[in-house]
Amino acid sequence: MVHVKCICCIGAGYVGGPTCSVIAQMCPEIAVTVVDVNEERIRAWNSDQLPIFEPGLQEVVEACQGVNLFFSSDIDKAVREADIIFISVNTPTKTFGLGKRRAADLKYIEACAQHIAEVATGYKVVVEKSTVPVRAAESIQRIFNANTKSNLSFQVLSNPEFLAEGTAIVDLKNPDRVLIGGGETVEGQRAVMTLSSIYEHWVPKSCIITTSTWSSELSKLAANAFLAQRISSINSISALCEVTGADVEEVAHAIGTDQRIGNRFLKASVGFGGSCFQKNVLNLVYLCETLNLPEVAQYWQQVIEINEYQHRMFASRIISCLFNTVTDKKIALLGFAFKKDTGDTRESSSIHISKYLMDEGAQLHIYDPKVKKEQIMQDLSHSSTSMDGPERVLSLVSIASDPYEACDNAHAIAICTEWDIFKELDYEKIYKAMLKPAFIFDGRRILDSLHDWLQQLGFQVETIGKISQRIPFTASAISKLDLQAPPLKKIKI
Ligand code: UDX
Ligand code: UDX
Repeated sequence: MVHVKCICCIGAGYVGGPTCSVIAQMCPEIAVTVVDVNEERIRAWNSDQLPIFEPGLQEVVEACQGVNLFFSSDIDKAVREADIIFISVNTPTKTFGLGKRRAADLKYIEACAQHIAEVATGYKVVVEKSTVPVRAAESIQRIFNANTKSNLSFQVLSNPEFLAEGTAIVDLKNPDRVLIGGGETVEGQRAVMTLSSIYEHWVPKSCIITTSTWSSELSKLAANAFLAQRISSINSISALCEVTGADVEEVAHAIGTDQRIGNRFLKASVGFGGSCFQKNVLNLVYLCETLNLPEVAQYWQQVIEINEYQHRMFASRIISCLFNTVTDKKIALLGFAFKKDTGDTRESSSIHISKYLMDEGAQLHIYDPKVKKEQIMQDLSHSSTSMDGPERVLSLVSIASDPYEACDNAHAIAICTEWDIFKELDYEKIYKAMLKPAFIFDGRRILDSLHDWLQQLGFQVETIGKISQRIPFTASAISKLDLQAPPLKKIKI
Protein backbone atom coordinates (compact mmCIF):
# COMPACT_ATOMS: atom_id res chain seq x y z
CA MET A 1 0.00 0.00 0.00
CA VAL A 2 1.27 3.48 -0.92
CA HIS A 3 1.64 6.06 1.84
CA VAL A 4 -0.41 8.91 0.37
CA LYS A 5 0.96 12.43 0.76
CA CYS A 6 -0.68 14.26 -2.16
CA ILE A 7 -4.03 13.94 -3.90
CA CYS A 8 -5.00 15.73 -7.11
CA CYS A 9 -8.53 16.04 -8.43
CA ILE A 10 -9.14 17.08 -12.03
CA GLY A 11 -12.51 18.86 -12.25
CA ALA A 12 -13.56 21.48 -9.70
CA GLY A 13 -17.30 21.00 -10.21
CA TYR A 14 -20.22 19.91 -8.04
CA VAL A 15 -18.56 16.55 -7.46
CA GLY A 16 -14.81 17.28 -7.39
CA GLY A 17 -15.01 20.46 -5.28
CA PRO A 18 -17.07 19.21 -2.31
CA THR A 19 -15.56 15.69 -2.37
CA CYS A 20 -11.99 16.94 -2.14
CA SER A 21 -12.86 19.61 0.43
CA VAL A 22 -14.17 16.88 2.72
CA ILE A 23 -11.17 14.61 2.02
CA ALA A 24 -8.88 17.53 2.96
CA GLN A 25 -10.79 18.14 6.18
CA MET A 26 -10.77 14.48 7.16
CA CYS A 27 -7.14 13.84 6.18
CA PRO A 28 -5.17 16.81 7.54
CA GLU A 29 -1.80 15.17 6.77
CA ILE A 30 -2.60 14.92 3.03
CA ALA A 31 -2.25 17.86 0.61
CA VAL A 32 -5.30 17.96 -1.68
CA THR A 33 -5.17 20.03 -4.87
CA VAL A 34 -8.24 20.50 -7.06
CA VAL A 35 -7.45 21.62 -10.61
CA ASP A 36 -9.63 22.67 -13.51
CA VAL A 37 -9.16 23.91 -17.08
CA ASN A 38 -11.69 26.63 -16.29
CA GLU A 39 -9.57 29.36 -14.70
CA GLU A 40 -12.58 31.45 -13.78
CA ARG A 41 -13.94 28.55 -11.75
CA ILE A 42 -10.62 28.18 -9.93
CA ARG A 43 -10.60 31.93 -9.21
CA ALA A 44 -14.09 31.59 -7.72
CA TRP A 45 -13.00 28.70 -5.48
CA ASN A 46 -10.18 30.92 -4.24
CA SER A 47 -12.54 33.83 -3.53
CA ASP A 48 -15.23 34.21 -0.89
CA GLN A 49 -17.92 33.63 -3.58
CA LEU A 50 -17.63 29.89 -4.19
CA PRO A 51 -18.74 28.83 -7.69
CA ILE A 52 -21.37 26.46 -6.31
CA PHE A 53 -23.85 26.78 -3.46
CA GLU A 54 -23.90 23.81 -1.13
CA PRO A 55 -24.91 23.99 2.56
CA GLY A 56 -21.86 23.57 4.83
CA LEU A 57 -19.33 23.75 1.98
CA GLN A 58 -18.09 27.26 2.70
CA GLU A 59 -17.18 26.29 6.28
CA VAL A 60 -15.21 23.21 5.16
CA VAL A 61 -13.35 25.19 2.48
CA GLU A 62 -12.56 28.01 4.90
CA ALA A 63 -11.17 25.55 7.44
CA CYS A 64 -8.77 23.85 5.01
CA GLN A 65 -7.98 26.25 2.17
CA GLY A 66 -4.33 27.22 2.12
CA VAL A 67 -3.61 24.63 4.83
CA ASN A 68 -3.97 21.33 2.99
CA LEU A 69 -6.62 22.22 0.38
CA PHE A 70 -5.65 24.10 -2.78
CA PHE A 71 -7.54 25.12 -5.91
CA SER A 72 -5.20 25.63 -8.84
CA SER A 73 -4.98 25.95 -12.62
CA ASP A 74 -1.55 24.35 -12.67
CA ILE A 75 -2.77 20.91 -13.69
CA ASP A 76 0.67 19.53 -14.62
CA LYS A 77 2.25 20.30 -11.26
CA ALA A 78 -0.67 18.82 -9.30
CA VAL A 79 -0.65 15.67 -11.46
CA ARG A 80 3.12 15.22 -11.09
CA GLU A 81 3.03 15.56 -7.30
CA ALA A 82 -0.02 13.38 -6.64
CA ASP A 83 -0.04 9.78 -5.44
CA ILE A 84 -3.77 9.53 -6.20
CA ILE A 85 -5.47 11.37 -9.08
CA PHE A 86 -9.26 11.65 -9.10
CA ILE A 87 -10.87 12.29 -12.47
CA SER A 88 -14.02 14.29 -11.81
CA VAL A 89 -14.66 15.96 -15.13
CA ASN A 90 -18.07 16.14 -16.73
CA THR A 91 -19.38 13.40 -18.97
CA PRO A 92 -22.20 15.08 -20.90
CA THR A 93 -24.70 13.20 -23.01
CA LYS A 94 -23.61 13.10 -26.65
CA THR A 95 -25.40 15.64 -28.83
CA PHE A 96 -24.29 14.19 -32.15
CA GLY A 97 -23.30 11.00 -33.94
CA LEU A 98 -23.60 7.46 -32.61
CA GLY A 99 -25.54 7.33 -29.35
CA LYS A 100 -26.78 10.91 -29.80
CA ARG A 101 -28.85 12.01 -26.75
CA ARG A 102 -28.20 8.72 -24.95
CA ALA A 103 -24.54 7.79 -24.74
CA ALA A 104 -22.12 9.59 -22.45
CA ASP A 105 -19.48 11.65 -24.20
CA LEU A 106 -16.17 10.55 -22.75
CA LYS A 107 -14.00 13.08 -24.59
CA TYR A 108 -13.02 14.92 -21.38
CA ILE A 109 -12.16 11.70 -19.54
CA GLU A 110 -10.04 10.59 -22.47
CA ALA A 111 -8.33 13.98 -22.68
CA CYS A 112 -7.53 13.76 -18.95
CA ALA A 113 -6.08 10.26 -19.33
CA GLN A 114 -3.90 11.38 -22.26
CA HIS A 115 -2.75 14.40 -20.31
CA ILE A 116 -1.91 12.41 -17.19
CA ALA A 117 0.06 9.89 -19.26
CA GLU A 118 1.97 12.78 -20.83
CA VAL A 119 3.03 14.65 -17.70
CA ALA A 120 3.08 12.10 -14.87
CA THR A 121 6.08 10.19 -13.61
CA GLY A 122 6.40 7.37 -11.03
CA TYR A 123 3.45 5.36 -9.69
CA LYS A 124 -0.09 6.78 -9.75
CA VAL A 125 -3.45 5.48 -8.64
CA VAL A 126 -5.97 7.02 -11.06
CA VAL A 127 -9.53 7.06 -9.76
CA GLU A 128 -12.53 7.37 -12.02
CA LYS A 129 -15.00 9.50 -10.02
CA SER A 130 -17.05 10.75 -12.94
CA THR A 131 -20.07 8.63 -13.74
CA VAL A 132 -19.12 6.69 -16.82
CA PRO A 133 -20.52 3.86 -18.91
CA VAL A 134 -19.47 0.36 -17.99
CA ARG A 135 -15.92 -0.46 -19.14
CA ALA A 136 -14.69 3.15 -19.22
CA ALA A 137 -11.93 2.28 -16.73
CA GLU A 138 -10.72 -0.30 -19.20
CA SER A 139 -10.43 2.42 -21.87
CA ILE A 140 -8.50 4.65 -19.49
CA GLN A 141 -6.14 1.80 -18.63
CA ARG A 142 -5.59 1.12 -22.33
CA ILE A 143 -4.68 4.75 -22.97
CA PHE A 144 -2.16 4.52 -20.14
CA ASN A 145 -0.76 1.21 -21.34
CA ALA A 146 -0.27 2.64 -24.82
CA ASN A 147 1.49 5.74 -23.50
CA THR A 148 3.44 4.48 -20.56
CA LYS A 149 7.01 5.64 -20.30
CA SER A 150 9.62 3.54 -18.50
CA ASN A 151 9.46 5.72 -15.36
CA LEU A 152 5.68 5.57 -15.06
CA SER A 153 3.05 3.06 -13.91
CA PHE A 154 -0.68 3.33 -13.20
CA GLN A 155 -3.54 1.52 -11.56
CA VAL A 156 -7.05 2.59 -12.56
CA LEU A 157 -9.91 2.26 -10.07
CA SER A 158 -13.59 3.07 -10.20
CA ASN A 159 -14.91 5.00 -7.19
CA PRO A 160 -18.29 6.49 -8.09
CA GLU A 161 -19.68 9.31 -5.99
CA PHE A 162 -23.17 8.99 -4.50
CA LEU A 163 -23.53 12.48 -3.01
CA ALA A 164 -26.73 14.36 -3.72
CA GLU A 165 -26.60 18.09 -4.29
CA GLY A 166 -27.98 20.16 -1.44
CA THR A 167 -26.84 17.53 1.07
CA ALA A 168 -23.38 16.88 -0.39
CA ILE A 169 -21.37 17.64 2.75
CA VAL A 170 -23.57 15.48 4.99
CA ASP A 171 -23.54 12.70 2.38
CA LEU A 172 -19.76 12.85 2.06
CA LYS A 173 -19.19 12.84 5.81
CA ASN A 174 -21.69 10.04 6.51
CA PRO A 175 -21.93 7.96 3.34
CA ASP A 176 -24.20 4.90 3.27
CA ARG A 177 -21.27 3.23 1.54
CA VAL A 178 -18.10 3.97 -0.38
CA LEU A 179 -17.73 1.84 -3.47
CA ILE A 180 -14.33 0.96 -4.88
CA GLY A 181 -14.04 -1.12 -8.05
CA GLY A 182 -10.79 -2.68 -9.14
CA GLY A 183 -8.37 -5.05 -7.56
CA GLU A 184 -8.55 -7.75 -10.20
CA THR A 185 -4.75 -8.11 -9.97
CA VAL A 186 -2.31 -8.02 -7.03
CA GLU A 187 -1.26 -4.46 -8.01
CA GLY A 188 -4.93 -3.60 -8.33
CA GLN A 189 -5.57 -4.85 -4.79
CA ARG A 190 -2.73 -2.67 -3.50
CA ALA A 191 -4.32 0.33 -5.22
CA VAL A 192 -7.72 -0.50 -3.69
CA MET A 193 -6.10 -0.65 -0.23
CA THR A 194 -4.41 2.70 -0.87
CA LEU A 195 -7.67 4.42 -1.83
CA SER A 196 -9.55 2.68 0.96
CA SER A 197 -7.02 4.03 3.48
CA ILE A 198 -8.13 7.57 2.59
CA TYR A 199 -11.80 6.88 3.33
CA GLU A 200 -10.93 4.88 6.45
CA HIS A 201 -9.97 8.20 8.06
CA TRP A 202 -13.70 8.71 8.69
CA VAL A 203 -15.77 5.92 7.10
CA PRO A 204 -16.17 2.61 8.98
CA LYS A 205 -14.44 -0.21 7.10
CA SER A 206 -17.71 -2.13 6.99
CA CYS A 207 -19.16 0.64 4.79
CA ILE A 208 -16.39 0.41 2.21
CA ILE A 209 -17.48 -2.02 -0.48
CA THR A 210 -14.99 -3.40 -2.94
CA THR A 211 -16.11 -4.97 -6.21
CA SER A 212 -14.82 -5.61 -9.70
CA THR A 213 -14.37 -2.47 -11.80
CA TRP A 214 -17.34 -3.26 -13.99
CA SER A 215 -19.67 -3.97 -11.08
CA SER A 216 -18.68 -0.65 -9.58
CA GLU A 217 -19.30 1.27 -12.81
CA LEU A 218 -22.65 -0.46 -13.36
CA SER A 219 -23.68 0.01 -9.70
CA LYS A 220 -23.53 3.79 -10.09
CA LEU A 221 -25.76 3.71 -13.17
CA ALA A 222 -28.09 1.19 -11.53
CA ALA A 223 -28.35 3.16 -8.26
CA ASN A 224 -29.38 6.34 -10.07
CA ALA A 225 -31.71 4.41 -12.38
CA PHE A 226 -33.45 2.79 -9.35
CA LEU A 227 -33.86 6.17 -7.64
CA ALA A 228 -35.20 7.78 -10.81
CA GLN A 229 -37.51 4.82 -11.31
CA ARG A 230 -38.99 5.30 -7.83
CA ILE A 231 -39.80 8.92 -8.64
CA SER A 232 -41.37 7.99 -11.96
CA SER A 233 -43.34 5.24 -10.20
CA ILE A 234 -44.81 7.61 -7.62
CA ASN A 235 -45.40 10.25 -10.29
CA SER A 236 -47.32 7.74 -12.38
CA ILE A 237 -49.48 7.07 -9.30
CA SER A 238 -49.88 10.84 -8.81
CA ALA A 239 -51.38 11.09 -12.30
CA LEU A 240 -53.88 8.42 -11.29
CA CYS A 241 -54.65 10.29 -8.05
CA GLU A 242 -55.38 13.48 -9.95
CA VAL A 243 -58.24 11.79 -11.81
CA THR A 244 -59.55 9.48 -9.10
CA GLY A 245 -59.61 11.64 -5.99
CA ALA A 246 -56.99 9.63 -4.10
CA ASP A 247 -54.16 11.70 -2.60
CA VAL A 248 -50.66 10.67 -3.62
CA GLU A 249 -49.18 11.79 -0.27
CA GLU A 250 -51.53 9.39 1.53
CA VAL A 251 -50.72 6.61 -0.90
CA ALA A 252 -46.96 7.26 -0.57
CA HIS A 253 -47.26 7.17 3.22
CA ALA A 254 -49.31 4.00 3.15
CA ILE A 255 -46.95 2.13 0.87
CA GLY A 256 -43.79 3.66 2.35
CA THR A 257 -44.50 2.26 5.81
CA ASP A 258 -43.94 -1.20 4.35
CA GLN A 259 -40.33 -1.66 5.31
CA ARG A 260 -39.65 -3.57 2.14
CA ILE A 261 -40.59 -0.48 0.14
CA GLY A 262 -39.36 2.23 2.54
CA ASN A 263 -40.50 5.84 2.68
CA ARG A 264 -37.69 7.72 0.94
CA PHE A 265 -37.78 8.97 -2.63
CA LEU A 266 -41.55 8.68 -2.78
CA LYS A 267 -42.27 12.38 -3.10
CA ALA A 268 -44.48 13.10 -6.09
CA SER A 269 -43.23 16.16 -7.93
CA VAL A 270 -43.05 18.07 -11.18
CA GLY A 271 -40.51 15.43 -12.19
CA PHE A 272 -36.88 14.76 -11.41
CA GLY A 273 -34.08 16.95 -12.70
CA GLY A 274 -30.37 17.24 -12.09
CA SER A 275 -27.29 16.33 -14.04
CA CYS A 276 -27.39 12.63 -13.18
CA PHE A 277 -30.76 10.89 -13.32
CA GLN A 278 -31.78 11.50 -16.92
CA LYS A 279 -28.22 11.16 -18.17
CA ASN A 280 -27.60 7.91 -16.32
CA VAL A 281 -30.90 6.29 -17.29
CA LEU A 282 -30.26 7.22 -20.92
CA ASN A 283 -26.75 5.78 -20.66
CA LEU A 284 -28.28 2.58 -19.33
CA VAL A 285 -30.81 2.48 -22.16
CA TYR A 286 -28.04 2.97 -24.70
CA LEU A 287 -25.89 0.30 -23.08
CA CYS A 288 -28.76 -2.18 -23.24
CA GLU A 289 -29.47 -1.32 -26.86
CA THR A 290 -25.87 -1.75 -27.91
CA LEU A 291 -25.73 -5.07 -26.05
CA ASN A 292 -28.85 -6.23 -27.90
CA LEU A 293 -31.19 -6.14 -24.92
CA PRO A 294 -34.08 -4.12 -26.43
CA GLU A 295 -36.69 -5.17 -23.83
CA VAL A 296 -34.46 -4.05 -20.98
CA ALA A 297 -33.73 -0.79 -22.81
CA GLN A 298 -37.45 -0.17 -23.27
CA TYR A 299 -38.13 -0.84 -19.60
CA TRP A 300 -35.71 1.89 -18.46
CA GLN A 301 -36.76 4.25 -21.25
CA GLN A 302 -40.22 4.40 -19.64
CA VAL A 303 -38.69 6.05 -16.56
CA ILE A 304 -37.73 8.98 -18.79
CA GLU A 305 -41.05 8.98 -20.63
CA ILE A 306 -43.03 9.28 -17.37
CA ASN A 307 -40.77 12.10 -16.23
CA GLU A 308 -41.41 14.06 -19.42
CA TYR A 309 -45.12 13.28 -19.12
CA GLN A 310 -45.07 14.72 -15.60
CA HIS A 311 -43.62 18.04 -16.86
CA ARG A 312 -46.31 18.21 -19.55
CA MET A 313 -49.10 17.29 -17.12
CA PHE A 314 -48.16 20.07 -14.72
CA ALA A 315 -48.03 22.67 -17.48
CA SER A 316 -51.33 21.32 -18.86
CA ARG A 317 -53.01 21.64 -15.50
CA ILE A 318 -51.98 25.28 -15.25
CA ILE A 319 -53.35 25.98 -18.73
CA SER A 320 -56.53 24.00 -18.09
CA CYS A 321 -57.29 25.78 -14.81
CA LEU A 322 -56.58 29.20 -16.31
CA PHE A 323 -59.59 28.65 -18.60
CA ASN A 324 -57.56 26.88 -21.26
CA THR A 325 -55.35 29.80 -22.15
CA VAL A 326 -52.29 31.39 -20.60
CA THR A 327 -51.50 33.68 -23.52
CA ASP A 328 -50.30 37.03 -22.15
CA LYS A 329 -51.13 35.92 -18.61
CA LYS A 330 -48.58 36.58 -15.92
CA ILE A 331 -47.42 33.43 -14.17
CA ALA A 332 -45.06 33.60 -11.20
CA LEU A 333 -42.74 30.62 -11.37
CA LEU A 334 -41.21 30.05 -7.95
CA GLY A 335 -38.01 27.98 -8.04
CA PHE A 336 -35.74 27.29 -10.99
CA ALA A 337 -33.08 25.03 -9.43
CA PHE A 338 -33.66 21.29 -9.93
CA LYS A 339 -34.13 20.87 -6.16
CA LYS A 340 -33.82 23.03 -3.06
CA ASP A 341 -30.50 24.05 -1.49
CA THR A 342 -28.61 24.17 -4.77
CA GLY A 343 -28.13 26.74 -7.49
CA ASP A 344 -27.82 24.00 -10.11
CA THR A 345 -30.35 24.09 -12.94
CA ARG A 346 -29.11 21.20 -15.06
CA GLU A 347 -32.14 19.31 -16.45
CA SER A 348 -34.37 21.20 -14.01
CA SER A 349 -38.09 20.50 -14.46
CA SER A 350 -38.61 24.29 -14.31
CA ILE A 351 -36.90 24.59 -17.70
CA HIS A 352 -39.33 22.18 -19.33
CA ILE A 353 -42.41 23.62 -17.62
CA SER A 354 -41.35 27.16 -18.58
CA LYS A 355 -40.88 26.03 -22.14
CA TYR A 356 -44.40 24.62 -22.37
CA LEU A 357 -45.89 27.77 -20.87
CA MET A 358 -43.81 29.99 -23.16
CA ASP A 359 -45.00 28.01 -26.16
CA GLU A 360 -48.53 29.03 -25.08
CA GLY A 361 -47.50 32.70 -24.87
CA ALA A 362 -47.44 33.03 -21.05
CA GLN A 363 -45.53 35.88 -19.42
CA LEU A 364 -43.23 34.21 -16.89
CA HIS A 365 -41.91 36.00 -13.84
CA ILE A 366 -39.32 33.71 -12.34
CA TYR A 367 -37.80 33.83 -8.88
CA ASP A 368 -35.18 31.51 -7.40
CA PRO A 369 -33.10 32.34 -4.31
CA LYS A 370 -29.87 30.85 -5.69
CA VAL A 371 -30.02 30.85 -9.48
CA LYS A 372 -28.63 33.84 -11.33
CA LYS A 373 -30.64 35.68 -13.99
CA GLU A 374 -28.06 34.93 -16.72
CA GLN A 375 -28.31 31.20 -15.98
CA ILE A 376 -32.11 31.21 -16.29
CA MET A 377 -32.03 33.17 -19.55
CA GLN A 378 -29.34 30.86 -20.93
CA ASP A 379 -31.29 27.73 -19.97
CA LEU A 380 -34.47 29.02 -21.59
CA SER A 381 -32.75 30.26 -24.74
CA HIS A 382 -30.94 26.99 -25.28
CA SER A 383 -32.07 25.49 -28.58
CA SER A 384 -32.87 22.02 -27.22
CA THR A 385 -35.31 23.42 -24.65
CA SER A 386 -37.04 26.12 -26.59
CA MET A 387 -38.42 26.63 -30.05
CA ASP A 388 -37.79 30.32 -29.47
CA GLY A 389 -34.72 32.42 -29.93
CA PRO A 390 -33.27 34.64 -27.21
CA GLU A 391 -35.41 37.62 -28.36
CA ARG A 392 -38.66 35.77 -27.74
CA VAL A 393 -37.38 34.50 -24.40
CA LEU A 394 -36.55 38.10 -23.45
CA SER A 395 -40.05 39.20 -24.41
CA LEU A 396 -41.75 36.47 -22.35
CA VAL A 397 -39.50 36.07 -19.32
CA SER A 398 -38.66 38.42 -16.46
CA ILE A 399 -36.49 37.53 -13.51
CA ALA A 400 -37.75 38.83 -10.18
CA SER A 401 -35.46 39.77 -7.33
CA ASP A 402 -37.93 38.54 -4.70
CA PRO A 403 -40.98 36.28 -4.65
CA TYR A 404 -43.40 39.15 -3.93
CA GLU A 405 -42.26 41.00 -7.05
CA ALA A 406 -42.76 37.79 -9.08
CA CYS A 407 -46.33 37.37 -7.76
CA ASP A 408 -47.40 41.00 -8.07
CA ASN A 409 -50.35 41.23 -10.48
CA ALA A 410 -49.95 37.57 -11.44
CA HIS A 411 -52.80 35.29 -12.51
CA ALA A 412 -51.13 32.25 -11.01
CA ILE A 413 -48.19 30.99 -8.97
CA ALA A 414 -46.43 27.77 -9.95
CA ILE A 415 -44.13 26.29 -7.31
CA CYS A 416 -41.52 24.21 -9.09
CA THR A 417 -38.72 23.90 -6.50
CA GLU A 418 -39.32 23.00 -2.86
CA TRP A 419 -37.32 25.88 -1.31
CA ASP A 420 -38.23 26.23 2.39
CA ILE A 421 -38.78 29.98 2.06
CA PHE A 422 -41.79 29.34 -0.19
CA LYS A 423 -43.54 27.76 2.80
CA GLU A 424 -43.11 30.93 4.82
CA LEU A 425 -44.24 33.63 2.38
CA ASP A 426 -46.91 36.15 3.38
CA TYR A 427 -49.62 34.61 1.21
CA GLU A 428 -52.22 37.12 2.43
CA LYS A 429 -50.12 39.96 1.01
CA ILE A 430 -49.50 37.95 -2.15
CA TYR A 431 -53.21 37.20 -2.61
CA LYS A 432 -54.12 40.88 -2.33
CA ALA A 433 -51.57 41.79 -5.01
CA MET A 434 -52.69 39.09 -7.47
CA LEU A 435 -55.37 39.17 -10.17
CA LYS A 436 -58.53 37.20 -9.31
CA PRO A 437 -59.28 34.35 -9.41
CA ALA A 438 -55.82 33.73 -7.97
CA PHE A 439 -54.31 30.28 -8.44
CA ILE A 440 -51.48 28.44 -6.74
CA PHE A 441 -50.08 25.32 -8.40
CA ASP A 442 -48.04 23.41 -5.87
CA GLY A 443 -45.75 21.14 -7.87
CA ARG A 444 -43.81 20.07 -4.79
CA ARG A 445 -46.46 19.46 -2.12
CA ILE A 446 -44.87 22.03 0.18
CA LEU A 447 -48.07 23.92 1.02
CA ASP A 448 -50.19 20.96 2.20
CA SER A 449 -50.45 22.24 5.76
CA LEU A 450 -51.57 25.68 4.51
CA HIS A 451 -54.20 24.53 2.03
CA ASP A 452 -57.30 25.27 4.10
CA TRP A 453 -56.00 28.68 5.07
CA LEU A 454 -54.96 29.53 1.51
CA GLN A 455 -58.44 28.59 0.33
CA GLN A 456 -60.01 30.72 3.02
CA LEU A 457 -57.93 33.61 1.71
CA GLY A 458 -59.52 32.99 -1.68
CA PHE A 459 -56.82 31.08 -3.55
CA GLN A 460 -57.67 28.17 -5.79
CA VAL A 461 -55.01 25.69 -4.73
CA GLU A 462 -54.01 23.02 -7.22
CA THR A 463 -51.68 20.33 -5.95
CA ILE A 464 -49.71 17.65 -7.69
CA GLY A 465 -51.17 14.20 -7.01
CA LYS A 466 -54.50 15.50 -5.76
CA ILE A 467 -57.75 16.16 -7.61
CA SER A 468 -58.56 19.77 -8.47
CA GLN A 469 -60.30 21.63 -5.60
CA ARG A 470 -63.02 23.44 -7.48
CA ILE A 471 -62.96 22.88 -11.19
CA PRO A 472 -62.83 19.22 -12.17
CA PHE A 473 -59.58 18.53 -13.96
CA THR A 474 -60.62 18.01 -17.56
CA ALA A 475 -58.79 16.02 -20.12
CA SER A 476 -59.32 18.63 -22.84
CA ALA A 477 -56.29 20.81 -22.20
CA ILE A 478 -54.08 17.80 -21.65
CA SER A 479 -54.91 16.26 -24.94
CA LYS A 480 -54.47 19.63 -26.61
CA LEU A 481 -50.98 19.97 -25.17
CA ASP A 482 -50.18 16.36 -25.81
CA LEU A 483 -50.84 16.92 -29.48
CA GLN A 484 -48.74 20.03 -29.50
CA ALA A 485 -45.92 18.65 -27.43
CA PRO A 486 -42.74 18.87 -29.48
CA PRO A 487 -40.60 15.73 -29.60
CA LEU A 488 -38.73 16.77 -26.46
CA LYS A 489 -35.75 14.44 -26.48
CA LYS A 490 -38.14 11.58 -27.30
CA ILE A 491 -36.21 8.55 -28.27
CA LYS A 492 -37.53 5.80 -30.42
CA ILE A 493 -36.15 2.43 -29.58
C1 UDX B 1 -19.41 15.68 -13.29
C2 UDX B 1 -20.28 14.73 -14.08
O1 UDX B 1 -21.39 15.43 -14.57
C3 UDX B 1 -20.74 13.56 -13.29
O2 UDX B 1 -21.33 12.62 -14.13
C4 UDX B 1 -19.59 12.93 -12.69
O3 UDX B 1 -20.02 11.92 -11.83
C5 UDX B 1 -18.67 13.89 -11.99
O4 UDX B 1 -18.35 15.01 -12.78
P1 UDX B 1 -20.08 17.72 -11.84
O5 UDX B 1 -18.96 17.87 -10.89
O6 UDX B 1 -21.45 18.05 -11.38
O7 UDX B 1 -20.21 16.23 -12.29
O8 UDX B 1 -19.73 18.47 -13.21
P2 UDX B 1 -19.27 19.95 -13.43
O9 UDX B 1 -19.79 20.81 -12.33
O10 UDX B 1 -19.57 20.28 -14.84
O11 UDX B 1 -17.67 19.90 -13.22
C6 UDX B 1 -16.78 19.33 -14.09
C7 UDX B 1 -15.54 20.22 -14.14
O12 UDX B 1 -14.52 19.56 -14.89
C8 UDX B 1 -15.75 21.57 -14.81
O13 UDX B 1 -15.42 22.61 -13.92
C9 UDX B 1 -14.82 21.55 -16.02
O14 UDX B 1 -14.24 22.81 -16.32
C10 UDX B 1 -13.78 20.55 -15.58
N1 UDX B 1 -13.02 19.95 -16.69
C11 UDX B 1 -13.66 19.40 -17.75
C12 UDX B 1 -11.63 19.93 -16.63
O15 UDX B 1 -11.03 20.45 -15.69
N2 UDX B 1 -10.94 19.32 -17.63
C13 UDX B 1 -11.55 18.79 -18.71
O16 UDX B 1 -10.89 18.26 -19.61
C14 UDX B 1 -12.96 18.83 -18.78
C1 UDX C 1 -28.68 12.02 -7.40
C2 UDX C 1 -28.45 10.82 -6.46
O1 UDX C 1 -29.35 10.94 -5.36
C3 UDX C 1 -27.02 10.76 -5.98
O2 UDX C 1 -26.80 9.60 -5.20
C4 UDX C 1 -26.09 10.76 -7.19
O3 UDX C 1 -24.74 10.78 -6.77
C5 UDX C 1 -26.36 11.94 -8.09
O4 UDX C 1 -27.75 11.95 -8.47
P1 UDX C 1 -29.03 14.62 -7.09
O5 UDX C 1 -29.44 14.58 -8.52
O6 UDX C 1 -28.02 15.63 -6.67
O7 UDX C 1 -28.46 13.20 -6.63
O8 UDX C 1 -30.33 14.88 -6.17
P2 UDX C 1 -31.54 13.94 -5.68
O9 UDX C 1 -31.83 14.30 -4.27
O10 UDX C 1 -31.33 12.53 -5.98
O11 UDX C 1 -32.78 14.50 -6.54
C6 UDX C 1 -32.85 14.33 -7.95
C7 UDX C 1 -34.18 14.87 -8.45
O12 UDX C 1 -35.26 14.05 -8.02
C8 UDX C 1 -34.51 16.28 -7.98
O13 UDX C 1 -35.07 17.02 -9.03
C9 UDX C 1 -35.52 16.05 -6.87
O14 UDX C 1 -36.36 17.14 -6.66
C10 UDX C 1 -36.28 14.85 -7.42
N1 UDX C 1 -36.96 14.05 -6.39
C11 UDX C 1 -36.23 13.43 -5.43
C12 UDX C 1 -38.34 13.89 -6.44
O15 UDX C 1 -39.00 14.43 -7.32
N2 UDX C 1 -38.94 13.11 -5.49
C13 UDX C 1 -38.25 12.47 -4.50
O16 UDX C 1 -38.88 11.78 -3.68
C14 UDX C 1 -36.85 12.65 -4.47
